[in-house]
Amino acid sequence: MTAPPADAHSFDALIVGAGFSGLYQLHCLRDRLGLRVQLLEAGDGVGGTWYWNRYPGARCDSESHSYAYYFSDELLQEWTWSERYPEQLEILRYLNHVTDRFDLRRDIRFGARVTAADYDAAANRWQVRTAAGERYDAKFLITAVGCLSAANIPDIPGLDQFAGAWHHTGRWPHQGVDFTGKRVGMIGTGSTGIQAAPVIAQTAAHLTVFQRTANYSIPARNAPLTEEFKRWAKENAAELRQVMHATPNGHPFAICDRSAHDVTPEERQAIYQAGWDKGGLQFRAAFRDLLIDKAANDTAADFIRQKIRDVVKDPATAAKLADIDHPFATKRPPIDTGYFETFNRENVTLVDVRAAPIECITRDGIETRDGIEHRLDIIVFATGFDAMTGPLLRMNIRGRDGLALREAWQAGPRTYLGLQAAGFPNLFTITGPGSPSVLCNMPVAIEQHVEWITACIADMRSHGFERIEPTPEAVDRWVAHVNEAANATLLPQAKHSWYLGANIPGKPRVFMPYPGGMARYRETCAAVAVNGYAGFVLSV
Ligand SMILES: Cc1cc2nc3c(=O)[nH]c(=O)nc-3n(C[C@H](O)[C@H](O)[C@H](O)COP(=O)(O)OP(=O)(O)OC[C@H]3O[C@@H](n4cnc5c(N)ncnc54)[C@H](O)[C@@H]3O)c2cc1C
Ligand SMILES: NC(=O)c1ccc[n+]([C@@H]2O[C@H](COP(=O)([O-])OP(=O)(O)OC[C@H]3O[C@@H](n4cnc5c(N)ncnc54)[C@H](OP(=O)(O)O)[C@@H]3O)[C@@H](O)[C@H]2O)c1
Repeated sequence: MTAPPADAHSFDALIVGAGFSGLYQLHCLRDRLGLRVQLLEAGDGVGGTWYWNRYPGARCDSESHSYAYYFSDELLQEWTWSERYPEQLEILRYLNHVTDRFDLRRDIRFGARVTAADYDAAANRWQVRTAAGERYDAKFLITAVGCLSAANIPDIPGLDQFAGAWHHTGRWPHQGVDFTGKRVGMIGTGSTGIQAAPVIAQTAAHLTVFQRTANYSIPARNAPLTEEFKRWAKENAAELRQVMHATPNGHPFAICDRSAHDVTPEERQAIYQAGWDKGGLQFRAAFRDLLIDKAANDTAADFIRQKIRDVVKDPATAAKLADIDHPFATKRPPIDTGYFETFNRENVTLVDVRAAPIECITRDGIETRDGIEHRLDIIVFATGFDAMTGPLLRMNIRGRDGLALREAWQAGPRTYLGLQAAGFPNLFTITGPGSPSVLCNMPVAIEQHVEWITACIADMRSHGFERIEPTPEAVDRWVAHVNEAANATLLPQAKHSWYLGANIPGKPRVFMPYPGGMARYRETCAAVAVNGYAGFVLSV
């Protein structure tokens, strides 16, 4: 096959996904490089994560002044956030504003779920099909499908016979869900469940939280932003950008350069208390060794466990909530607004499904192994995502000689820099596995990837190169480096973490994001480009 099918729409580049990643990639390729670009998006609007996750309490954990694009000074100056952590609707409004400001909508095809992408080596083009049967082809295929966009609905027997309603938080109905007077069961106590429970409990007749793994959480201490802060963030945008580029996790604060062992127990307690009072993700920046030294980590973990016991009045419930089996922050650390306090409400019950696992869903509720049927009108699945590889594998990508990505990644994802896989020429994966992505404040990681890909395509064009892909050796070295970086931390100790793929039955247990730090990763990518794209093969 050398020519595209007659009914195909031909472009220079196709982008899949209209969240933070895809929108900026479209702007860069179309408006900076002048390419003919089409963006394909499964949803009916832009926003990605913030289009789909409309569950009660959905809100950002990154602080608003850092959870934004920093590529345009004008955009930074004209947009004003209202709260310390923006809620879902505000972020969705922001991304719609960006879309219109840069006139992106005209090149986005909504309701277009990509179901197949095949590389045609003779033509050096990607042939792409959507669920509706539309066909597209382009030289470059750029996935902006998100790390957390493939909903994980666990395969619990009996769901089809449930007489009530059920919803996954990542596929929340646009018209909302009325919990008034309803008995609600929520499965999952990750960041999502921890945000949703306090809000659901306010209107539900009863909320039953099904907890499999107890989790740490730090109070968010959300509040409206003062006029003074709003002004400060705009006036200091350049410095903030610099800080976010210099820190390992892309947040606008540095990690303290002291060990938890450098201070007395009293000083440590005061430092943690100050972090707890201030609220937010900065709590984990109190000491430099929290993620590399178990004894240091234990001091933070013990502090939080004690807080849970202080807040939750019923000792049996407090014990279940504080019975956390992994080091602090080895799973993505949630922040909350009144999560532990919610268990002091009369209408909220905690069920420990580690002790008595969910057996099945019945017509009237959820049955656990101890023989109890928890009677429910609504089930909320706050059960997370088939993270990182899920959205890519669901697209049925086939590279050279028909090699399926699913086969190439059978034992876990294999990329060079999280940007490309061997055997898949001209396919770029924004925030792909092997890049810092979810271990970073994501807009920072996204901007770096998009800008690197844009510069790479510009370089290829100016030097007359038609194809780029990594060598298998570069991929091997990078995969080994990612593993090494993970093993130098406590992160792999959370055996059930989605970072490891452990939340999906049968998924290979491989640490997927790159834990070497965003600043170091940025330097590595820049050095690779300067050195003639070392580790990649460019061909004419
Ligand atoms: C509830 C929630 C809260 C979060 N909070 C934070 C936070 O506080 N800080 C932070 O840094 N990160 C947070 N994240 C991570 C968040 O996903 C990123 O910050 C960011 O929004 C990712 O943008 P993206 O464009 O890469 O992917 P997404 O926003 O996930 O967009 C991907 C898009 O691709 C589309 N798509 C996928 N597959 C296909 C296909 N086959 N065909 C067509 N379209 C497809 C999807 O429909 C989606 O619109 C959060 C994630 C969740 C789920
Ligand atoms: N504001 C924010 O920043 C924010 C908010 C929400 C989400 N997020 C992002 O999205 C990621 C995913 O968060 P999430 O909370 O949606 O998912 P998650 O962290 O994967 O949590 C899913 C929860 O569901 C439980 N679960 C899954 N399957 C189950 C089953 N069959 N039976 C019982 N329990 C089950 C899990 O238990 P186990 O732990 O035992 O597997 C876990 O408690 C976060 O880590 C974060 O990166 C961010």
